Amino acid sequence: MIETVALNKSFNGVEVLKDINVIFKANEITCILGESGSGKSVFLQTLAALHEPDSGKIFINKENILQKSEEELLELRKKIGYLFQSSALFDFMNIYDNLAFPLRENTALSESEISKKIKEILQEVNLSGVEEKFPNELSGGMQKRASLARSVILQPQFLFCDEPTSGLDPEHARIIARLIAKISKVYKATTIITSHDIPNSLAIADRIVFIFDGQFTEVGAPSNLIENQDRRINSFLGPYAEVKKCMIE
Ligand SMILES: Nc1ncnc2c1ncn2[C@@H]1O[C@H](COP(=O)(O)OP(=O)(O)OP(=O)(O)O)[C@@H](O)[C@H]1O
Ligand SMILES: [Mg+2]
Repeated sequence: MIETVALNKSFNGVEVLKDINVIFKANEITCILGESGSGKSVFLQTLAALHEPDSGKIFINKENILQKSEEELLELRKKIGYLFQSSALFDFMNIYDNLAFPLRENTALSESEISKKIKEILQEVNLSGVEEKFPNELSGGMQKRASLARSVILQPQFLFCDEPTSGLDPEHARIIARLIAKISKVYKATTIITSHDIPNSLAIADRIVFIFDGQFTEVGAPSNLIENQDRRINSFLGPYAEVKKCMIE
């Protein structure tokens, strides 16, 4: 479980996250929807202790991570799978070495065990056989799936996905969204996805949260959107506001 209490973060005097109080539960997929610049990436980065908030608390499994030492944070980050907004694969390594990296850094697995794990996870994300390829030899959608494979190879308890479907065509966006949902359920992870991809978010989320200008508005289950009258939410949903009923059902 992850909880934030009165979380605030600003850059150069500009408030980006404003008094965020939220709880994310295990085995639950929460999609945070919001427009560009609303603070989605900063929020995820702050949860992973990549930024220090100005004030507030962040509890992960009931421990306040802001009181942890650098070594303790390194241990904690091993439990977090982070799919970055830019796919963040290492350009100079082939896919095999990209995926082996977290295993070599964080486990005592032998090379044959590593190789077996890589084969399994590549199969899971429909990328069997790309081990020898370098990231620039893969399409954008394939790179996203390879990054997803790398972010879940340590079987994380917490899965943070920052805009996992942006830049993908509708079919590949659907594939990656469903893959995240499947992996997240298999690991019973606490999963947080930021996105402006409305249809795929509504399809896979257990819970929807909107972020407007650094502030959260909780909706709960996607089906609650059917009755929603919030002007900002309907404006964000745009044409989807009309068809949300059929998307959710
Ligand atoms: N490291 C940083 N230093 C200064 N300002 C930053 C930094 N990171 C983000 N910001 C600012 O914080 C605000 C929120 O940025 P953020 O990247 O979280 O938006 P976002 O919701 O993820 O947008 P997008 O949908 O385009 O990815 C923006 O105004 C951005 O300029
Ligand atoms: Mg972002």
